[in-house]
Amino acid sequence: MTKQTPGHIALLTSGGDAPGMNAAIRAATRAALARGWRVSGVRQGYAGLIADDMVPLSARDVGGILQQGGTVLGSARSPEFRTDAGQRQALAHLARRAVDALVVIGGNGSQTGAAALAAAGLPVVGVASTIDNDLAGTDVTIGTDTAIQVTLEAIDRLRTTASSHRRAFLVETMGRDCGHIALMAGLAGGAEVIVIPEAEVAPAEVALRLRAAHQRGKTHAFAVVAEGARHNAHALAQWFADHRADIGFGLRVTQLGHMVRGGSPTATDRVLATRLAAAAVDLLAAGGSGMLVGQTGGRITTTPLTDVAGRTRMPDLSLLELARTLAQ
Ligand code: F6P
Repeated sequence: MTKQTPGHIALLTSGGDAPGMNAAIRAATRAALARGWRVSGVRQGYAGLIADDMVPLSARDVGGILQQGGTVLGSARSPEFRTDAGQRQALAHLARRAVDALVVIGGNGSQTGAAALAAAGLPVVGVASTIDNDLAGTDVTIGTDTAIQVTLEAIDRLRTTASSHRRAFLVETMGRDCGHIALMAGLAGGAEVIVIPEAEVAPAEVALRLRAAHQRGKTHAFAVVAEGARHNAHALAQWFADHRADIGFGLRVTQLGHMVRGGSPTATDRVLATRLAAAAVDLLAAGGSGMLVGQTGGRITTTPLTDVAGRTRMPDLSLLELARTLAQ
């Protein structure tokens, strides 16, 4: 913990963009300006930090972005920042520009980078942001609610055509190695089967459950699959094609891909981003550093970045059983 209050902070968004990042940029900027601090925005995440690509941010610069998806600062995945040389260069640029503290808005890899900078002595606060919701130290991350909503909209739309034709459908959503988005969208969408990396389902079992849904009189049958599952859309499409004659029905496959993290953030994501980013500024004002700002049990919480880096959070697997029971 540093005891000094910063007069000049920098903000960056890093890793995969997430709807709500702009709301976080706006909130952090205006909360810092309200304290009389200067604010710089780093372009393209850690890559911009290494390239010394920063712009001053005023209250007007962050106007009209609350409802926009993506990040106006840009984002990147920067392998160079994982090296000591990259981190030294970033720290040198920040020192030359008299930046006293850094706010890192991002997910797992980004907060691991933030932990490294904090360990090097820079006051750093992380803001939990990734659609995947796999970050330790928080129940929920910025962008997850929107990603679930986008996935659910796709399920609801596909359901009408599935019902008209009495077909089986598969929707694959994002989440990298985490099944949270698929699990929640599957539960909310009434999926017959949910396949996630944390609880794999064999293709034959997927086919069995889809067929059973039709046998119970359902006009549609849905599988929701996380991209990180071993039997993801690609694998299941292949399996169903190979076994078409035996199972007696086909599977229509929709891969949502990057659609899941595009577009305008939900109200929940805007509010979450606003609260977390404002709390990050409060934390810096109180002399805090090396912490992730998240939300746990409905409250804003802080967790040491050293406890967050390299760790992941599991989805609530009890919901899988509930989804299965309710899909009867
Ligand atoms: O981590 C966020 C995320 O959208 C994951 O869900 C996905 O697997 C990954 O990023 C995609 O990364 P990229 O946009 O670099 O292809």
